[in-house]
Amino acid sequence: MKDLTPNKADLDPIEIASIDEIRALQLERLKWSLRHAYDNVPMYKQRFDEAGVHPDDLQQLSDLAKFPFTYKNDLRDNYPFGLFAVPREQIMRLHASSGTTGKPTVVGYTANDISNWADLVARSLRAAGLRKGDMVHNAYGYGLFTGGLGAHYGIERLGATVVPMSGGQTEKQVGLITDFQPDGIMVTPSYMLNILEQYHKVGMDPRESSLKVGVFGAEPWTDAMRREVEEAFDMHAVDIYGLSEIMGPGVANECVETKDGPVIWEDHFLPEIIDPVTGEVMPDGEMGELVFTTLTKEGLPMVRYRTRDLTRLLPGTARTMRRMEKITGRSDDMIILRGVNVFPSQVEEQLMATGGLAPHYQIELYKSGRMDAMRVYVEANPDATDELSKTAAARMLTKRIKDMVGVSTEIIVGDPGSVERSQGKAKRVVDNRGKS
Ligand code: DLL
Repeated sequence: MKDLTPNKADLDPIEIASIDEIRALQLERLKWSLRHAYDNVPMYKQRFDEAGVHPDDLQQLSDLAKFPFTYKNDLRDNYPFGLFAVPREQIMRLHASSGTTGKPTVVGYTANDISNWADLVARSLRAAGLRKGDMVHNAYGYGLFTGGLGAHYGIERLGATVVPMSGGQTEKQVGLITDFQPDGIMVTPSYMLNILEQYHKVGMDPRESSLKVGVFGAEPWTDAMRREVEEAFDMHAVDIYGLSEIMGPGVANECVETKDGPVIWEDHFLPEIIDPVTGEVMPDGEMGELVFTTLTKEGLPMVRYRTRDLTRLLPGTARTMRRMEKITGRSDDMIILRGVNVFPSQVEEQLMATGGLAPHYQIELYKSGRMDAMRVYVEANPDATDELSKTAAARMLTKRIKDMVGVSTEIIVGDPGSVERSQGKAKRVVDNRGKS
């Protein structure tokens, strides 16, 4: 793999400013942001008043702990535009996430918000090893999802050539990558596996592709998956994190030279880690729920937004700003099986370490009598589809999950292609516990 470390001179100065400078900027911006939310969004005014806090009570960053949290349900309850802090006419763009139940959550951006977003995605791509003049194949979905357009504007802002492919049409994806010779690809990690599969289907060597780096996010993926993709394509695989409520892709991004967890762009977002049960702020280094407060957002300021993503804050390495540990689970995705907490990523890790299996999987939860039970659907590698190999792989994975994760599972090893493929975010868990 090529060394893609960016030149220091190309970074935004704030990325490598001193911690004191960054904290001072955050404090100044946080004061503005709390005031902006309080003055312009009735819900914030009411919540702050009820909690007996006022934007003027914020004297130092740690005072933020006195302010109330904001939840995903608050966006639903104020559907569609109730949390916007500017008149609708000043909103330049809307995005929305589908949500599994009920109404979508709607987010809105002013022209400044869109510009900051483009800057931060450009900064993210630079961290990933891309630069002006490169070409980037964008396979995140275009539309209401923030992935496609968020990435698109960032690629343009970087000064790179964007291929606005969107998700789906896997054959065409591989055709265009072959013909256009892009330097980078932006796509969910699970969809990258479909692209990889397509290379094999048409008998092409993915290591011969022009791709030097993949910028993968929108869903959890493990370091084991990183190694698999890096090896398969002979390219760097870098993690991009974000969520619509806070902005979209580019809230945090990993540096290609360290690959040690996404750097949070702290000049625009203030992170906290809290105990998800008590709401208490935890010190850096402790595992808990990630909470964000936006520092510059005009359209939709967010104060202490509960992401439900579980991680810890780590000190800066390649940049001064803090990193978050690569996210391997959301509190919503946690499966509790006979008292043991299980995340799909733990299953993924064991699957990747088991020979003879392809990296596609889906977990089914069901009732076995009165107890919850878990079944994992996986696929045999195309070169290991005989019954003997399948049985051996199933036995090995069952044992690994029992030993390493601590739960008993049934493993079904199907033929290649038997597990549902995603076009974007993969659906890792199917819950059939309500069905008899
Ligand atoms: O998924 C934004 C995005 C698009 C990020 C493209 C990166 C690339 P939402 O649809 O609102 O926004 O989903 C946000 O996805 O709270 C996490 O649970 C999960 N997520 C996003 N990035 C990562 C990542 C976009 N790198 C939710 N690793 C977040 C793990 C991620 N989970």
